[in-house]
Amino acid sequence: MEAKDVSSAGDDAALEPSRPRTFIKDIVRGATEELVGRKVVVGGWVKTGREQGKGSFAFLELNDGSCLANLQVIVDAAVHPLTQLVPTGTCVLVEGELKKPPQGAKQSVELKVESVLEVGTVDPAKYPLPKTRKGLTLEFLREFGHLRARTNTISAVARIRDELAYATHTFFRKNGFRYVHTPIITTSDCEGAGEMFQVTTLFSKAEKELMQNPRPSETDIEAAKLLVKEKGETVSQLKSSKASEEEISASVSELTKAKESLLRLEERFKLKAGIPQKDGKIDYADDFFGRQAFLTVSGQLQVETYACALGNVYTFGPTFRAENSHTTRHLAEFWMVEPEIAFANLEDDMNYAESYVKFLCQWLLDNCIEDMEFMKTFDDAAIERLKLVSSSPFERISYTKAVQLLKNVTDKEFEKEVEWGIDLASEHERYLTEVLFKKPVIVYNYPKGIKAFYMKLNDDQKTVAAMDVLVPKVGELIGGSQREERLDVLVKRITESGLPLEPYEWYLDLRRYGTVKHSGFGLGFERMILFATGMENIRDVIPFPRYPGRADL
Ligand code: 4AD
Ligand code: MG
Repeated sequence: MEAKDVSSAGDDAALEPSRPRTFIKDIVRGATEELVGRKVVVGGWVKTGREQGKGSFAFLELNDGSCLANLQVIVDAAVHPLTQLVPTGTCVLVEGELKKPPQGAKQSVELKVESVLEVGTVDPAKYPLPKTRKGLTLEFLREFGHLRARTNTISAVARIRDELAYATHTFFRKNGFRYVHTPIITTSDCEGAGEMFQVTTLFSKAEKELMQNPRPSETDIEAAKLLVKEKGETVSQLKSSKASEEEISASVSELTKAKESLLRLEERFKLKAGIPQKDGKIDYADDFFGRQAFLTVSGQLQVETYACALGNVYTFGPTFRAENSHTTRHLAEFWMVEPEIAFANLEDDMNYAESYVKFLCQWLLDNCIEDMEFMKTFDDAAIERLKLVSSSPFERISYTKAVQLLKNVTDKEFEKEVEWGIDLASEHERYLTEVLFKKPVIVYNYPKGIKAFYMKLNDDQKTVAAMDVLVPKVGELIGGSQREERLDVLVKRITESGLPLEPYEWYLDLRRYGTVKHSGFGLGFERMILFATGMENIRDVIPFPRYPGRADL
């Protein structure tokens, strides 16, 4: 095979696939005069299909996922058997000519098919998604994680999610940040909250051992005991009947074998399911990494090591929390964007957070307006919210002030009473942002007792330089802080938090060797999508939601 010419790498031209096809977005957004008469190949999935003119032709509403809009496609019965094409969910690749539809039609252009190139059929009696949205709930769709991306809602959310990811990389690149891949498997607990999923091969190893060498049942033991008894009786009988020496010694040797076999069975019976133990604890020296390991709850600690070398960095990846939360705002697996900025204090941190959220909102207004218009079906204020957030400054108040304001609230009774020192609950956060300020609010300087060990202790010795960004609809969108860069204070905070020092020695080294004032934050990516789209449940804004009791696919 000839080597491919790579000299054009980096050109703007898109790659030419083996079967060039036109995206429906380029047709529905194009100028009618330029499109009419053009021959195109279009591929997608039939949303709705209906035979017309006594079965002489069919209309197909075709969607290829490139945009919300469908293309109206007309196929004559002479071109292809229509019953194969009309069921909802059928995949077709068709070639034809773009035409101007009859006067009064809602679409500006339609496709008259000349040949059907490929078909992926559907048995309409078995296809689980209905033809129309009527009665179709998001809960129902969660049962079909492998098919739900074909619906308008889930595909619009997927495009918005993709835009927000692209906007994230654009924002940080524009501001001089490098993207760092932090590990998914970790041996340090960043938040110190003990909500980590463990990564281990001990169970699968134990299971394999058990399969190869199954634990005997009590019946097996009883049978072995019976055999020993029988063999013993045979020996005594032979002895009392004065049988030959040879006969006796043969039966004694059978008895010995039966006894040995019983002993082995009893020993195996006593063994626990094969998990190695030492001093009454599980012995992780035998585990895959030779120590206990977990799925990360945050890439922050590791990304800090790069901030202390490259300056401005960020990580953007999946994070995992084994908290038993069944709310519409929590997932067990979610994505987090975590910038970490050297030489930055808490105020810089808040400035970056605010500017990043604004950038994301403006990006959707500029690049995703069609899907955002569709989101109005869930929340008619979605676009207004983006406009407001992208253009007006966020409110900034200290935790102490927030507590004061909440204590003075008379028009609402909170489930959890507000006192200085409590972790603000979602109801308090939402009251601040939705009712009191009606815009995003940054609360800063929280009591040290409710925040993680790595946050910088303020001079009052009572609060830490933490900040949370609270937004309407969602509550907490971002959590961040200035980091404690003083070695002695950090050691004290780790110990006070009841954490062991040993796993954090490498983290302490960052303070031992060339310590730097630095700050960072984490934005919950799905919470950002909830906020932007106005969707109600976080399970519908991630392609494959994981939450207690559910991990489909
Ligand atoms: O406030 P958190 O726990 O902060 C951290 O993990 C820091 N290490 C971040 C940093 O400073 N680099 O989490 C950050 C954000 C929250 O504000 C929230 O938006 C989101 O992550 N989040 C969740 N999103 C979905 N499901 C969950 N279970 C979440 N837990 C936190
Ligand atoms: Mg938080």
